[in-house]
Amino acid sequence: MAPAVKYGRLMTGLRIVDAVDRFDSDLFVGRAHEILAGLVADGAALGWVEPPSADEVTALLAEVGLAALAGDAALRAAYDGSDLVGVGYWRRYARPTHQPHADLEKVAVDGAAQGRGVGRALTAALVDAARERGIEVLTLDARGDNDRALTLYRSLGFVEYGRLADFVAVGEHRYDKVFCALDLRGGS
Ligand SMILES: CC(C)(COP(=O)(O)OP(=O)(O)OC[C@H]1O[C@@H](n2cnc3c(N)ncnc32)[C@H](O)[C@@H]1OP(=O)(O)O)[C@@H](O)C(=O)NCCC(=O)NCCS
Repeated sequence: MAPAVKYGRLMTGLRIVDAVDRFDSDLFVGRAHEILAGLVADGAALGWVEPPSADEVTALLAEVGLAALAGDAALRAAYDGSDLVGVGYWRRYARPTHQPHADLEKVAVDGAAQGRGVGRALTAALVDAARERGIEVLTLDARGDNDRALTLYRSLGFVEYGRLADFVAVGEHRYDKVFCALDLRGGS
């Protein structure tokens, strides 16, 4: 079925770009910070309890960008025309025995742009980048109540391989940590 039928309001000006050349751009980093901090303030499960500071996001994107330049990460950005509406990245595992593999760590779409195909396009582009880079297994973990993200990942072929019950701590609340993997070996 064509996605346009499903959504009815797919983002028509959507572009997914390699952001490796933008990780030190104040404009890009500032807007990425706005998106990430806004999502966390609204309760998104992105690994932070409190919204990250601008410095934290700057440092994170610099780390990812430098790793991407070395071929050990991919950083992708989603634009609605010229407006940044989403970011995501994966990083190769540092542990020597895990180096053929990478972890998809954050996929974040601005609240106002959600539900219009941005997250799907961004995640699919990151999977494509992993395949092109020869990554063997792409892993991720998600909070057990993040149905939207888990549905998206499953629909792209990620399979749950384990879960830690009541592991993610947000104040007094506890949530499952769900581990998923996409095996890219076999040329599919
Ligand atoms: C998870 C997230 C990245 C999805 O991005 P998005 O742009 O909203 O997603 P899309 O519009 O591409 O939709 C992808 C899937 O999400 C689900 N989805 C989207 N909108 C939904 C809604 N309103 N209700 C329920 N599910 C929805 C559907 O399964 C959809 O699949 P479909 O294309 O077959 O309909 C986004 O919601 C987000 O940034 N959330 C906060 C941060 C986060 O949780 N990141 C993931 C960390 S593991």
